[in-house]
Amino acid sequence: MVKIFDTTLRDGEQTPGVSLTPEEKLIIARQLDKLGVNVIEAGFPVSSKGEFESVRAIANEGLTATVCGLSRIIKNDIDRCLDADVGMVHVFVSTSDIQIAHTIKKSREEIVADSIKAVEYVKDHGVLCLFSAMDATRTPPAFLREIFTAVEGAGADIINIPDTVGVMAPSAFHRLVKEVCSYMNILVDVHCHNDFGLAVANSLAAVEAGAREVQVTVNGLGERAGNANLAETVMSLHSIYGAKTSIRTQYLVETARLVERLTETRIPINAPIVGDNAFSHESGIHSHGVIERSDTFEPGIMTPEMVGHRRRIVLGKHTGRHAVKKVLEEAGYHPTEDQLQEILRRIKELGDKGKQVTDADLQTIAEVVLGEI
Ligand code: KIV
Ligand code: ZN
Repeated sequence: MVKIFDTTLRDGEQTPGVSLTPEEKLIIARQLDKLGVNVIEAGFPVSSKGEFESVRAIANEGLTATVCGLSRIIKNDIDRCLDADVGMVHVFVSTSDIQIAHTIKKSREEIVADSIKAVEYVKDHGVLCLFSAMDATRTPPAFLREIFTAVEGAGADIINIPDTVGVMAPSAFHRLVKEVCSYMNILVDVHCHNDFGLAVANSLAAVEAGAREVQVTVNGLGERAGNANLAETVMSLHSIYGAKTSIRTQYLVETARLVERLTETRIPINAPIVGDNAFSHESGIHSHGVIERSDTFEPGIMTPEMVGHRRRIVLGKHTGRHAVKKVLEEAGYHPTEDQLQEILRRIKELGDKGKQVTDADLQTIAEVVLGEI
């Protein structure tokens, strides 16, 4: 079983240009709970009054998922999370030399000592503690081991390996996660950014190497190029890796569209799984194939029904007669062979002019041709 930690409402909301109201965050949190994620990272309570209220409202909504708040390794940040009634505090600190030198400006010894103190403080308050070594993938492995071992000793429940700037190749991430898993006795989680388009591949490599929790966002939202996409990660885990998660996949499309609407961030038409074209077919050969048997030109191990989508035959210049016949029959038209050929000719003519053939176009063409021939 792989746990799904959703950070749409925290890292996802850090997408440049995205800002959600507390009401919108609550609507998304309810949907994530319906979808079945294990953890909802609701926000960073210390960052503003509105953010604090929003995290608290989500934490008190009575959701099945554990509600988590983000915190630096600072007592005041942790207190804001605890005051917001979260069930998990996610404490993080930079561990790479570059971030230590240019952002937190502390010694490694201080960072380890403050991390231990932060984890102990969270655990003294009886909630779950997740510890992230920010920029772990650019951190010297020996220091990563030192800090992870120290926080495990302090009582952390989960450690997270973030690929903060998305620089890992899947094979290198596999090696790193395997090494970390070899010395940790608590749950290992990963958080992959998508700077090179590898966030999902890296998350999957991490699971192969022993990670048992992945951090994801709906529609891959997040800082810069975003985080690992929830739908792509989950469906790959289920359908390709044969792994189990608690996700009710039939709500994936509904969830993606809700987040698209509330964040005003469009899902590309060719997005895997949830995009409009994910199960659409235009070419004659493909359409003919899927009309006969859907897995001729679809994965088969993933169907539109599994993810709450629908299969579409799109008409255009690549269309063949089987597809047109099927679409017309579904619309209640039963043309003769001659009529069918003429309808097909007119569809291709429109397609050649660079036009998409809409349902209304098809209806007009069919009625004209059926009336003429
Ligand atoms: O990208 C990152 O490292 C983060 C941490 C807070 C986990 O978002
Ligand atoms: Zn991040």
